[in-house]
Amino acid sequence: MLELTPRKLRLLDYYDDGEDARHFSFAIESPWVSDLQTIAGQFFMLALPGFGEAPFTYVSQPDAQGRFNALIRRTGALSNALFELPAGAVLGYRGPFGKGWPLFFSTHQVLVVAGGCGLAPLAGLLDEAAEHHLPVHLRVIYGARRQATQVLGRERERWKQTMSFSETFDQAGAGQQQGSPLVHLEQLFAKQMPDAVLCCGPQALMQATADSCLNLGIPANKIWLSMERRMHCGVGLCGHCYIGASYACVDGPVYRYDQLQAVQAGCLTLPQGQG
Ligand SMILES: Cc1cc2nc3c(=O)[nH]c(=O)nc-3n(C[C@H](O)[C@H](O)[C@H](O)COP(=O)(O)OP(=O)(O)OC[C@H]3O[C@@H](n4cnc5c(N)ncnc54)[C@H](O)[C@@H]3O)c2cc1C
Ligand code: FES
Repeated sequence: MLELTPRKLRLLDYYDDGEDARHFSFAIESPWVSDLQTIAGQFFMLALPGFGEAPFTYVSQPDAQGRFNALIRRTGALSNALFELPAGAVLGYRGPFGKGWPLFFSTHQVLVVAGGCGLAPLAGLLDEAAEHHLPVHLRVIYGARRQATQVLGRERERWKQTMSFSETFDQAGAGQQQGSPLVHLEQLFAKQMPDAVLCCGPQALMQATADSCLNLGIPANKIWLSMERRMHCGVGLCGHCYIGASYACVDGPVYRYDQLQAVQAGCLTLPQGQG
């Protein structure tokens, strides 16, 4: 069933979490079973009366009471209006949509490369690995322009307790690692070759990460990227989010890199729901 009508969503609480970014807690009124089956990396459409809808990813997936978190940057009309709302405000919600990150049960060495707000779509995956003790060894490298632009401060402190989590800065301060995450890839690969690489961040970072991984010997079918496109319907109807022969809202936003290359070249159409 195509979900086109927003359901009620309550803004529960929020706190500032990085420059021009806020960590929001929401609750879906009367959550559906499908809400509880949300996979890390999927997205939802947030509706604000008078401002339309925009896609955002889950930082934590909805629980039985429909409560979940999201990290939202102040970028334009809708997010500006959201930042002015008090706790208790009623908004609209559609979701979960798209394809999330792959679930790893047999892959043991996973490298996660995140840039800026691109850490948000990966948060659910990192939490699952940390809390449910998946048979996965995660190493995370997170790049930001400078310390003030880092997001998910509380989550990062938690993850540092349970996994290898390093941070890089374009403008590093004393004692901080200078450079983009890419500068450190070769060194990380020399220590331990990953079986899979997941990346989310600015397009240039994702492209460069994929290229470096291929050069360092990771096959394209072991690399996943989360692609950002303009989205309107979120369900494969309007055609705003196409990437080659696919719709990012349905076939993505998370793509396996060999399949992304094929759809970009227009030579593969992904059946709905196939990863
Ligand atoms: C699958 C998906 C998940 C997302 N998850 C998050 C998230 O978790 N947190 C978050 O803060 N943002 C996320 N975004 C981005 C967010 O949806 C946009 O920034 C949104 O447009 C904000 O609405 P606005 O009205 O505030 O800004 P707008 O007025 O719509 O846009 C502000 C500026 O951002 C540009 N822009 C808007 N959307 C895009 C886009 N898709 N690609 C490139 N440039 C764009 C516009 O051209 C404009 O310059 C996600 C986008 C997608 C597609
Ligand atoms: S957002 Fe409408 S087809 Fe993807």
